[in-house]
Amino acid sequence: MADGSLVLAVDQGTSSTKALLVDAGGQVVARAVAPLSERQPQPGWVEQDAVELWQSVRAAVASCVDPVLAHRIEAVGLSTQRESLVLWDRRTGEPLGPLVSWQDQRTNGACHELAAAGSGPLVRAISGMPLDPMFSALKAGWLLDTYDPQRRRAKAGELCLGTVDSWLLSRFGGEHVTEVGNASRTQLLNSDTRRWDERLLDLFAVPAAVLPRVVASCGDFPAVRGLAPVPDGTPVRAVLGDSHAAMFAHAGWRPGVVKATYGTGSSVMAIGDGGDSPRLCRTVAWDVTGPVLAVEGNIRATGRTLSWLADLFGVDVQVLLDEAAHAAGPVQIVPAFGGLGAPWWDPDAVAVLSGMTLATRRGDLAAAALHAIAHQIEDVVAVLEATVGEVRLLLCDGGLTRSARLMQTQADVSGRRVGRSAEQDLSCLGAADAAGLAAGLWSLPDLERRLRPTDEYHPSTDHVARAAERTRWHDAVDRARPAAV
Ligand code: G3P
Repeated sequence: MADGSLVLAVDQGTSSTKALLVDAGGQVVARAVAPLSERQPQPGWVEQDAVELWQSVRAAVASCVDPVLAHRIEAVGLSTQRESLVLWDRRTGEPLGPLVSWQDQRTNGACHELAAAGSGPLVRAISGMPLDPMFSALKAGWLLDTYDPQRRRAKAGELCLGTVDSWLLSRFGGEHVTEVGNASRTQLLNSDTRRWDERLLDLFAVPAAVLPRVVASCGDFPAVRGLAPVPDGTPVRAVLGDSHAAMFAHAGWRPGVVKATYGTGSSVMAIGDGGDSPRLCRTVAWDVTGPVLAVEGNIRATGRTLSWLADLFGVDVQVLLDEAAHAAGPVQIVPAFGGLGAPWWDPDAVAVLSGMTLATRRGDLAAAALHAIAHQIEDVVAVLEATVGEVRLLLCDGGLTRSARLMQTQADVSGRRVGRSAEQDLSCLGAADAAGLAAGLWSLPDLERRLRPTDEYHPSTDHVARAAERTRWHDAVDRARPAAV
């Protein structure tokens, strides 16, 4: 790589957009964040403004990139929140409605109808995922039913449906495209052939003409346009789903790597096809030097649990993290705000707060939230272990991992070593790693050699205490799922 070359990476997430500039040695030389809003117009509904998302990308890039350095950017990498869906007019580029968030539950009824009709096994066999409102397919149905109920405009090719990668790439102009890992999270893609599947399109009533062309992760994407000060025409070399990008940054192609990303929700992932476990998803991880499948469990509310508490008390999340450090108690939170994802996949689960006394304080709730995060992660790791073998070391990334208390709680709850990456923004770095690789700026062995350092946390409680805590947690999960027990 020429010494002065730079890679720009953008991570478009649920609560913010991050941008990083990475130099030839893989060092981050500049970074910026632009915040984002979301709205809940009805219980269970979660929306964002697609135009605001695009503006946040522009804002993050403008603050990150010094105009003097902009011409040294050789490649752009993009990592995006997954499953969230936008419907827009192909000619004007204007969204017809809101971005329906991956967290959104408005299609719960439609999900139950399909399940009652016996469609679940077919959907899982083709897509690799359980029927659940989190995936884009049911959202596609809702958006089309609302804005084009006869599917007339969709069939005529006048409308575009796309996940966030596709939406952002459409801002650059050119063909309607999506990256294969993001496409697999729509539940409309056949995870083996990596093509839209006619049977799924029929089932979810999505005309093929409304969908983008599926492109490999380092495929042929439109070049940058309108992202000042980055020169128009700068190539986009890689696009990845955010969880997949974090896996890539852990050099997750190596056998035995299992990672947990702590974002608004969480994703626990390892490379592999997942066997037949009904509690996990089979997902296309990426197609960088060939297609790779991952086995994944998605948790709906991890960071969201803390930000919900912070909103409730009108304080910063950091205040809660500090107070949690001094608290312990019998309080339990099961944050099933929009049902529970892996390993339960129960959209009817309800959030539960229990064990409070008159002595309960804010710090006890914060501590309960940290424990809920750690237990949910461990629930998935325990199931994943049946597929990928014993997990001795769990690699962790994401903003919340700055909390040493959370990392220690994770090690105690899991009874495993927990490795915290020194760099929290691994989704962004993974996009940079893949983009630089595609541009020929470095190789896979280079990436393995320069792996970011981790610090390790070791379990400090014994097996008996851990087993008792896990039982208490599972009792609380049962209370959150009255219909299932
Ligand atoms: O599957 C949803 C996930 O991609 C969202 O990630 O980081 O925005 O919580 P994040």
